[in-house]
Amino acid sequence: MSSAASVQTCNLVEGTSIQEHVICVADEILASLPNPEGLSPEQRRGMIARYSAVLEGNFIYWMTGALLSAKTEEARSKILENLYEEVRDCHPGMLRRFTLAAHALPTDSDASMVYNDLANVRLFVGRLSTVPMLVMMAFFEGWIQRFMPYLAELAQRQGSKEMEYTDVHGVCDITHTEELFRALAAEIALDPPEPGTNLYEGVDLLRTLILSILHPAMN
Ligand SMILES: [Fe+2]
Repeated sequence: MSSAASVQTCNLVEGTSIQEHVICVADEILASLPNPEGLSPEQRRGMIARYSAVLEGNFIYWMTGALLSAKTEEARSKILENLYEEVRDCHPGMLRRFTLAAHALPTDSDASMVYNDLANVRLFVGRLSTVPMLVMMAFFEGWIQRFMPYLAELAQRQGSKEMEYTDVHGVCDITHTEELFRALAAEIALDPPEPGTNLYEGVDLLRTLILSILHPAMN
């Protein structure tokens, strides 16, 4: 699958909850994934490399942006829990080991393929707009755990056995997800977004970035 037209867009109909919408966006991205068997070794390497170029140096920045944006104790304690885990267990190091073992360290050209879309997400995060920022992170957390088996398969097909990163991030933690959406509801209740605010601005930018990792031909 390699054209923009092949990735459906979730319609925002009246009554769709935030949770339903972000699940729909994750569903459509996952449905667009090509069968790893049909990819060439270079295509598999490129996908791991672009993922790594985006995530290794940015995830903690995004999470810190979410922490600075959050105003309620409920949201802040949830995000802090995540940040402690990221730092204490050194997730960037874990991702680097995963990428190295798959012989997929990003090259200049891998990094430049995601540069513009990554810059857009960074600028959005820097605006610290509370609710859209937390919606983006809730979307990302749901998506990443569902993407991990695919990422692991790419690496295995590249001859790697180093799966700590995908094992740790592939755990489907329903309680955690529910707590995250409860925290989001608390933020909305405390400080409802202005009418006309696009709650999905961060989700849309991150979706575009993820698609540029997965389908570079679309750019
Ligand atoms: Fe992590």
